Amino acid sequence: MHNIANAEEVKVIEDGQAPPTGTTTPPRKPKWYDTFSYIANPDRFCRQNLQKYGPIFNTGVFGRTTIFVGSAKAIQMAFNGDLKYTEIALPATTMDMFGEYSLFQRPDLHRQRKNALAPGLTGRVLDGYTPLINDVIVRGINSWTTPSTIAVSPAVEKICFDVLTPVLLGISLDDSAPETFKGLPITSKAELKALYKTYFHGFYGLSQWKSPLTKYGRGFLARTKLLEFMRAVVQRRRGEGKVIKPTADFLSMMLDSQQEHPDGVFSEQLIENQCLLQLWASDYEVSGLISSLMYQIARHPQVISRLRLEQATLTGGNSQVTMFSPEQLKQMVYLEATIKETLRTLPPSSTASRLLTKSVVLDGVLYNKGCVIIAEPRIAHITPEYFPEPEVFAPERFLPSRSEDKMYQFIPFGGGVHACLGAQMAIAITKVFASHLLQMFNWEATGEAKFVQFPLKKLRDDYQMKFTRRV
Ligand code: HEM
Repeated sequence: MHNIANAEEVKVIEDGQAPPTGTTTPPRKPKWYDTFSYIANPDRFCRQNLQKYGPIFNTGVFGRTTIFVGSAKAIQMAFNGDLKYTEIALPATTMDMFGEYSLFQRPDLHRQRKNALAPGLTGRVLDGYTPLINDVIVRGINSWTTPSTIAVSPAVEKICFDVLTPVLLGISLDDSAPETFKGLPITSKAELKALYKTYFHGFYGLSQWKSPLTKYGRGFLARTKLLEFMRAVVQRRRGEGKVIKPTADFLSMMLDSQQEHPDGVFSEQLIENQCLLQLWASDYEVSGLISSLMYQIARHPQVISRLRLEQATLTGGNSQVTMFSPEQLKQMVYLEATIKETLRTLPPSSTASRLLTKSVVLDGVLYNKGCVIIAEPRIAHITPEYFPEPEVFAPERFLPSRSEDKMYQFIPFGGGVHACLGAQMAIAITKVFASHLLQMFNWEATGEAKFVQFPLKKLRDDYQMKFTRRV
């Protein structure tokens, strides 16, 4: 099957130039209530419109003509238009929350910043975080009392936060240790988390009114406080006067790079903003993925058996493993396939919200300048040409024999120049978490789960699962 577009197939229409004759525009008229329908249930919105109009259609989401695309060629077009025919287009409130030091805001500095950040989140440095990730997860899940029913999402989120603060900021936030918050403007983990929650909710506040009465206004205030916190964390670290080991954590990597190249990429503002953003992205995204994985595993007993078999082969039947090494994690191909199938069936978010700065034509369809394009995993991931029997939960589709994780078709982490920088880390943490869970517990779903739908799809906080201990 030929899905992928050659670069020359995307025809950019210069201003004043007429599109080739015979081009059509995407079907469907934007509706005034599209934003509400989409936010209420993005899956349903995408599925219903896909059935009626095909994988490319107009919407009125977020107040302007927004073209949803779910076919591989159009997704490729959406992912790769930077500096040629697209720029990032998120709602104004979302852009303010990201701020000017995110990777999104400055296309001219994007590549340089991304290249500078990548070493702290990937490859050998990520492998180096593995012992710590194992330790915190084992301690966390060991504290779950069993047999019992546990509200999975908050329980997982708590552990993820404890994993991610040392990995990213080089500190562990332990409320019971008096030193933890010394010199910091926030005095408890609960306060920090509450601020993050408020910040998160500000991302898609619909009004840009900076007032304590709006989600956006509260979110913006929380952002300011969180940045003060990050600044204090950085200052405290410097004040300790210790040699900075660049592989110790993400912050160390940035501080070391700044020391080496004082006029380089890492300004003070970039460092504190990246601390803020990466912790935000990771905590919600990773804990959401782990909870969704647990739910999908619980609903598919045949998958559990195969996962346990893989684990037993890797550990030689030892059921008391406290540390899964990076090498072992890489060999967990069936677990990785199950994680990918979870991301296919429950993609956390849309990707690539881009504004067309020029009109383009692809496959006879005209995408008009001034419209926004959104690449939707919720369309691509249920397309039978890419994923046969899309309704079936089948990790096998991601094993080498089927390899359905094709670029531009499997897009939970976006793709192209803005592809997610944390994908490797998210999968590594999820693998460690799942391996310890499989070893220590049996768990069961308690009926159909409900999900928070927007801005990220996530198991609802009140959804519980039944746990019993195996060892
Ligand atoms: C399940 C976990 C995750 C999912 C589903 C996810 C999803 C995504 C998606 C869809 C994008 C592309 C957005 C776009 O094209 O507009 C993205 C970008 C990004 N993600 Fe993730 N993410 C996850 C975890 C993480 C983690 C753990 C980190 C960092 C520690 C991270 C850091 C980033 C960064 C820095 C970008 C921006 C890249 C750029 O603009 O070049 N993500 N992510």
